[in-house]
Amino acid sequence: MAIRNIVKMGDSVLRKNSKPVENFDEKLWQLLDDMKQTLDKIQGLGLSAVQVGVLKQVIIIDYEDQFLEIINPKILATSGSCYDNEGCLSVVGFRGIVERPETIDLEYFDRFGNKKSIHAEGYFARVFFHEIDHLYGVLFCDKMIRRVSGDE
Ligand code: CO
Repeated sequence: MAIRNIVKMGDSVLRKNSKPVENFDEKLWQLLDDMKQTLDKIQGLGLSAVQVGVLKQVIIIDYEDQFLEIINPKILATSGSCYDNEGCLSVVGFRGIVERPETIDLEYFDRFGNKKSIHAEGYFARVFFHEIDHLYGVLFCDKMIRRVSGDE
């Protein structure tokens, strides 16, 4: 395993679309293991492969007691609307208030290519929306209604 560098805003790779994973092989597992080691070190809630420079639809989420590996996510349904404070490991120095749906129903694949689904609400759902945006080149600051300092 290896800690990978986090790509920062300003790097054009963050604006590109990530491609679906086709091979659930050792190369994917290495990427996932490296992403976990990287996220553990910086204690983030989530990380997308594009943030380590890999344009694949691969996300990891470490939220409270849940650790999830999300591959080729597809949003099935959302509901509601809420505002909260978000930051990003690729955006240094500020956070922002972003509107997101309150709930998400998501279909995805695990590292072995098994199809899974999950329902999430509140801030847990927010982490999914934030990470899925990364797969389409979108950053939270594109959507924020107000910028807040890094400490808020
Ligand atoms: Co982010």
